[in-house]
Amino acid sequence: MVTLMASSSRSQFSSRFGFIMAAAGSAVGLGNVWGFPTQAASNGGAVFLFVYLIMVFLLAFPMLVAELTIGRYGQSNAIRSFRSAWPKGKAFAIVLGIGGLIVVSLILSFYSIVAGWLMGSFADSSLNLVGLADKSHWLTTFGTERNLVLMVIFMLLTMHVVRSGVADGIEKWSTRLMPLLFVLFGLLTVYIFTQDGSLEGLKMYLVPDFSHLTPELVVSAMGQAFFSLSLGVCVMTTYGSYLQKDTNIPKTAAQVALIDTGVAFIAGLVVLPAMFVAKHHGVQIFSDSGTLLNSDTLVFTVLPALFDTMGEMGAVVGAVFFLLMIIAALTSSISMLEVPVSCATEELKISRNKAVLLIGGVVIIASAAIVTNFNLLFGFVVNFTTVYSQPIIALLITLIVGWIWNRNQILTELKQGYPEIEKSLFWKIWPTYVRVVCPILMLLVFFA
Ligand code: TRP
Repeated sequence: MVTLMASSSRSQFSSRFGFIMAAAGSAVGLGNVWGFPTQAASNGGAVFLFVYLIMVFLLAFPMLVAELTIGRYGQSNAIRSFRSAWPKGKAFAIVLGIGGLIVVSLILSFYSIVAGWLMGSFADSSLNLVGLADKSHWLTTFGTERNLVLMVIFMLLTMHVVRSGVADGIEKWSTRLMPLLFVLFGLLTVYIFTQDGSLEGLKMYLVPDFSHLTPELVVSAMGQAFFSLSLGVCVMTTYGSYLQKDTNIPKTAAQVALIDTGVAFIAGLVVLPAMFVAKHHGVQIFSDSGTLLNSDTLVFTVLPALFDTMGEMGAVVGAVFFLLMIIAALTSSISMLEVPVSCATEELKISRNKAVLLIGGVVIIASAAIVTNFNLLFGFVVNFTTVYSQPIIALLITLIVGWIWNRNQILTELKQGYPEIEKSLFWKIWPTYVRVVCPILMLLVFFA
């Protein structure tokens, strides 16, 4: 009776569509619209795209199924879900869960700084549109004060959504924002292809030149696939715990992975041609030796320079582009904040409101520390979290799923939404795959 009450009072996504939008919302973020095109542009275009697609389906998709399944089985926050998959490994589960929530909070603390810049660029394009260009310089000039103010605004927005809970906050916002994102992206793609120079970019993006294929490229593609599907820091475990029992997990995970990859692909379809359109307008994008200039700031320098050359229309396109990036960032940041918030409400028994204020406050402070020591901390935190911590935690999660968690329990859990799973190809491959192939691939990335 008690468990019945506990599980029925726990919030859930109200529909499968809502879940897909929320999980895809988490996955689709700056990693897709900024990280992927930038990496593709600096790593030979088509070859990077090709390796990335392989990585998503070989590594990221099976991991996504693993994380969602643990969460749905545990019906609780990440710490408790790991404990239910491995009842004897209490200490391990606690360390892993807390590790995940610390890393995801740190990711949020740098993510919100970048999202703040995007809000600055959006406001700048909008002010240009109404003829107030001279007022907006502050918004796009790198400075501690600007970085702080914009980061806090973005965090408050994130906190506002998470405070309203799973169905009324995360799901409601995701189901509205994600379709809007698809529409804006579609419009932008069509527009870019009406511009001179775009076909050259398309060629770089779609025609592979295998001389670019290096071990580093494979490692970057793997890391990018991981980051892009929000793996390895308990986000998907937490979202999985709000998933209804009759949902077919492998199918849903495949849809989320497809949407995520689709958006990354389309972002490349906008950004690479846009670079060449910019080049056509005289903006320098490649150095004399042919490498991409400013690869990290592509989005903040090359594209605005392009928008400037387009006159009135440029301001509109710019505003749309940055709005799209803000939407992508927001549906991701809410998923990050949800991980520690779900732990705090369930483990410390505090209200959601209090948990959001407390944890949001801590993230803002951490973020402010990064802003005020930018050169020292920003790159360090990005590397520490995404290059080292994320793969390690993901590896530990696969080890639990592949080696420790009882296979019959996994099967029973998956069967609830997919009764014929035992006879499927998926079930013939996936368990062994997660047990052996995923850890080996991950160790390879890590040591590379
Ligand atoms: N996947 C998102 C992106 O592509 C970012 C993201 C959301 C994330 N949650 C995460 C990254 C958890 C790492 C871990 O931008």
